[in-house]
Amino acid sequence: MLAGIFKPLRAASERSGMSHRILLLGAPGAGKGTQSKKLADEYGIEHVTTGDALRANKDMETEYGTPRSFMEAGELVPDPVVNEIVEAALADADGFVLDGYPRNLEQAEYLSEITDLDAVIFLDVDEEVLVERLTGRRMDPETGEIYHLEFDWPDDEAIQSRLVQREDDEEDTVRDRLRVYRENTEPVIEHFREEGNIVEIDGEAAPDEVFDRIRDVIEE
Ligand code: AP5
Repeated sequence: MLAGIFKPLRAASERSGMSHRILLLGAPGAGKGTQSKKLADEYGIEHVTTGDALRANKDMETEYGTPRSFMEAGELVPDPVVNEIVEAALADADGFVLDGYPRNLEQAEYLSEITDLDAVIFLDVDEEVLVERLTGRRMDPETGEIYHLEFDWPDDEAIQSRLVQREDDEEDTVRDRLRVYRENTEPVIEHFREEGNIVEIDGEAAPDEVFDRIRDVIEE
């Protein structure tokens, strides 16, 4: 059994009353986690993130080995493990923002079998900006908040002192993750482009500006 997979991020403000099924696509570091948290809060929907779920279950034994061995190498965790996580999470969610899945065409096909989507949004960010964002990212292990050494550093010294770097945010692993993204996930973006139902957003603007653009797309 997978432990602590999806913490409910349902906000008190379930403003719209509508169910939203949103897919956020983008390279590692494009801002999917940052924007998903805001969306979950704004619309009172679940933040379904395969990355967080796998980090919470890194040492889980599966027939393919532990997720840790794949994640530390920047490689994809095998599809059956990830598909099971996503299917369980979506079954329980009345509205969601999906972050980190699908990452290859097989996962995209699986997703199309288990749910419909209301919006598919791609955050477009240049590769060198991605490297800068990922190597400078720091996480708060107590709250799960995401910060950045240059772009978003907390004033509170107690928070500063407990921030940690993710193991896969060292530059060598970052470059491996970007290669895996180009090889496996770019074809997924292309697939949605061919279907004509993806909205592309410049992810290099400030986080609040990116959020405003995403909200405009969802509310159109
Ligand atoms: P996962 O955790 O999903 O990592 P990722 O996709 O590589 O994405 P990140 O979390 O690194 O980046 P993000 O886009 O969320 O950016 P963030 O908002 O933090 O996956 C990790 C691993 O798990 C994978 O390598 C794989 O092994 C495994 N895995 C996960 N899903 C899988 C799947 N489906 N199949 C198989 N394996 C899977 O932002 C990054 C930084 O930039 C932060 O510091 C933030 O403060 C800053 N920032 C954000 N937005 C802005 C902005 N607009 N301007 C300036 N700075 C910004």
